[in-house]
Amino acid sequence: MIERDFYTIYGAPPQVVVRAPGRVNLIGEHTDYNEGFVLPAAIDRSINFAGRRRADRVVRLHSLDFNASVEFSLDDIQKDSRNTWSNYIRGVTKYLEEDGHRLSGADLVFGGDVPREAGLSSSAAVEVGTAAFWNKLLGLELDPVYLVKLARRAENHFVGVPCGIMDQFISALGRRDHALFLDCRDLAYRHVPLRGDVKIVVCNSGVKRALAQSEYEVRLKQCRQAVAEIASMGVPAASLRDVTPANLEAARARLSDVLLRRARHVVSENERVLEAIQVLESGNLERFGQLMNASHVSLRDDYQVSSKELDVLVEVAWKQPGVLGARMTGAGFGGCTVNLVRQEAAEAFAEAVRRGYQDALGLKAEVYICRASAGALSA
Ligand code: GLA
Repeated sequence: MIERDFYTIYGAPPQVVVRAPGRVNLIGEHTDYNEGFVLPAAIDRSINFAGRRRADRVVRLHSLDFNASVEFSLDDIQKDSRNTWSNYIRGVTKYLEEDGHRLSGADLVFGGDVPREAGLSSSAAVEVGTAAFWNKLLGLELDPVYLVKLARRAENHFVGVPCGIMDQFISALGRRDHALFLDCRDLAYRHVPLRGDVKIVVCNSGVKRALAQSEYEVRLKQCRQAVAEIASMGVPAASLRDVTPANLEAARARLSDVLLRRARHVVSENERVLEAIQVLESGNLERFGQLMNASHVSLRDDYQVSSKELDVLVEVAWKQPGVLGARMTGAGFGGCTVNLVRQEAAEAFAEAVRRGYQDALGLKAEVYICRASAGALSA
């Protein structure tokens, strides 16, 4: 328990405890930084924070997962090249101060069960958890969406990873037993109920996402190039969000094969998300599953961010009874798949995927049967 850990380390009870969940994305992949649509859910695995105020301007930080401590002053927050795990917390803290929110020193301990580098957004959970921690400790009552944006700013500019806004958003604003439909252009969102008789099953390939960051940056640039080309033909497009399938067809001759594929993924994925919302709300989970499957094919063939391991996990999943849909989730190049499975079939599914993955590649997959959970800043 995080309260007990705090007591053991600092010799006093914490004043504040917050929990920020990891996430899985049901559909809408690589659309967030194209101002498109996403449908993630927060999962019942979280990074937990416990802390108390100090009278000075010092922050003492202990990571349970790294079994390491660092200390910094609120008046001089620098990136730490040795204890890189602390940078998410430093970044969020620095930007709060920079925005004029006067913080106090604090003793803090954090840790949890969101696997790292598995594509389940443990870093977004640390950022959002930090924002929620300061908000609660000091009674700041800041707007959750402001804190989401600040958490993303910390990841983009302090840590230096050019992610979109999906992961921080869902870790902050998820709701129990619901997915969250988010328009990444204006940040309008709505919670969509998930049925209890269907489980979200996450399969972790165990492969660290080695290429993820560099290839992510390449995709980002390719999307910008594709928009620029399409806009130069007179289509009023500020991002791929504005491009219709007909626009894309008209631009076919103009775009290189690679840019056409990248754009086709994003344009079709946005359409899939919009249909997915409709069919989820009308209870047509069979169709929802088909859209997930189509998303995987598009990510594999057009966006080219899957991997052999993810493809095997998905192909094994597709063959199992009770599976509605299966796809890679998150940035790709390793990490996890997300599967929608009928409740009564979930345990057997987990076992079959573990066995199939082991037989095909000699690798061990971890399988988590998840429940959609509340975000760190949801009311
Ligand atoms: C990572 C990023 C997100 C999003 C996904 C792909 O998780 O952090 O912003 O771009 O990849 O959908």
